[in-house]
Amino acid sequence: MNLSVAWNRLSARLKRRDLHHTVGRFNTIRKTYSFFQKKRQQTNGSLYRTRLQPRESSVFPDVSPTVAGDALRDKSVTFGFALPGAMVQEIHDFACQNVLYEPGSDDEFFVHDVTNGQLPTGRSVLRGLVKNPSHCPAIERIAQDPVLLSIAHDYLHYWPTQVTRHLTWTFVSDLNDQEQKHRFLPLSYHYDVAGYNFMSAYFYITDMDVQTGAHVMIARSHNKKPLHTLFAPWSGRTPDQILLDYYGQENELLIEGKAGFGFMQDPACFHKLLPPRQQNRLIFQIRYA
Ligand SMILES: [Fe+2]
Repeated sequence: MNLSVAWNRLSARLKRRDLHHTVGRFNTIRKTYSFFQKKRQQTNGSLYRTRLQPRESSVFPDVSPTVAGDALRDKSVTFGFALPGAMVQEIHDFACQNVLYEPGSDDEFFVHDVTNGQLPTGRSVLRGLVKNPSHCPAIERIAQDPVLLSIAHDYLHYWPTQVTRHLTWTFVSDLNDQEQKHRFLPLSYHYDVAGYNFMSAYFYITDMDVQTGAHVMIARSHNKKPLHTLFAPWSGRTPDQILLDYYGQENELLIEGKAGFGFMQDPACFHKLLPPRQQNRLIFQIRYA
């Protein structure tokens, strides 16, 4: 795609007033937004923190927000967040017992309705978002965790004004890899544009490895991207080889972990998930914006 076509697409999005989902891909915009938010919160930072209703104690008392923030700035990711087994079980049970939906469809269903990526109606479904995740007490405890909020503050340079919860199943599917990738963007390398500035925490609620939907990312790709990918549609969906040639194979991280494993990431880095082949995948994500 040449740059003039890319620019026309970008202009069309700007005309649709889809501004934050368009310009948030540029580092300069993210830094400028952070600068003004920081300035705005400077005089009354405690008010903005209090609005987030942080709990008294953290699930991750041993994590240093400064060390985590430095790792995020350097590598786009920081590890070392383990959920207690009881919280993992509570979130898993919640996701099994509550209604799911797939964006773009009116169907509502439960995880037990899905067999090999198909609903009883025969419609294939690749993911299911759990409705009202904030009704789960364990999820609220994590979303209001003071250490996670401090890391978000350290990284963004302001207290986030939006903290959204996303509890998502990805289903084992009978569709071949090509069809799955065509229908489900996160199976290909892409970066998120979730606002003017943003970051995320992720927790595996099922075990994830190369066969069960592990997350894969390119370290250090949040800061610097091939120019054409900044103007590409579909959140910069880019073939693997282009990125491996640009960043080097050594920067590709396969993030495997047991249920309860957690990490924080700047999702402006290139990342994808592997299609789960042996069991449905359940992940909990918090987005700070
Ligand atoms: Fe993503």
